[in-house]
Amino acid sequence: MSKLKVAVIVGSNRRESVNRKLAEALVKLIGDRVESRFIQIDDLPMYNHDLEHSRPETVARFTQEVVASDALLFVTPEHNRSIPAVLKNAIDWGSKPMDHNVWKGKVVAITGTSPSAIGTAVGQQHLRQILGILGSLVMGGEAYISFKPDLINEDGEIANEGTHAFLQAYLDAFLALAAKLGA
Ligand SMILES: Cc1cc2nc3c(=O)[nH]c(=O)nc-3n(C[C@H](O)[C@H](O)[C@H](O)COP(=O)(O)O)c2cc1C
Repeated sequence: MSKLKVAVIVGSNRRESVNRKLAEALVKLIGDRVESRFIQIDDLPMYNHDLEHSRPETVARFTQEVVASDALLFVTPEHNRSIPAVLKNAIDWGSKPMDHNVWKGKVVAITGTSPSAIGTAVGQQHLRQILGILGSLVMGGEAYISFKPDLINEDGEIANEGTHAFLQAYLDAFLALAAKLGA
């Protein structure tokens, strides 16, 4: 049997993104139980309905990669108590045209980190709402990670034992749900 395909979408276009570092650490925690890949979103043009008659090549690549995935892990910062524009833009492209909405039926887990004490909680709620409306099967539970400089060690792994165990359990639940519903 072929492995489940899990795609990771990072909601930041910042070169030194802490969410990308977190996402890379999470892929390590997932290990080789599934096929993991990152899907790029920072090369997509701003959504414009006028481009629908001939979708840009980057958009076609992006939507194909989402369609080819059994499950999606979003790792995102919070911008002004919502999701970053770069992520909303990618979701908008994937949602249109309505009969080709790539988010529908996808098993999704959400996490993210920011220096705030409530580490992306409000942004994640917005993302949960948007993806729910688009028909994704968003896993229950919460994974708000307050960013500290020592969150990730030099080997790119979650340093804190408690956070490591918490995120391992969160990912295990995600993979179990994806195995049940995703393929
Ligand atoms: C436009 C903007 C808005 C932000 N708003 C929030 C916010 O609402 N809540 C929060 O916790 N952090 C906020 N931040 C701080 C980010 O969490 C911080 O820059 C974080 O490092 C972003 O993650 P990244 O490194 O993965 O891009 C904001 C940053 C920017 C640039």
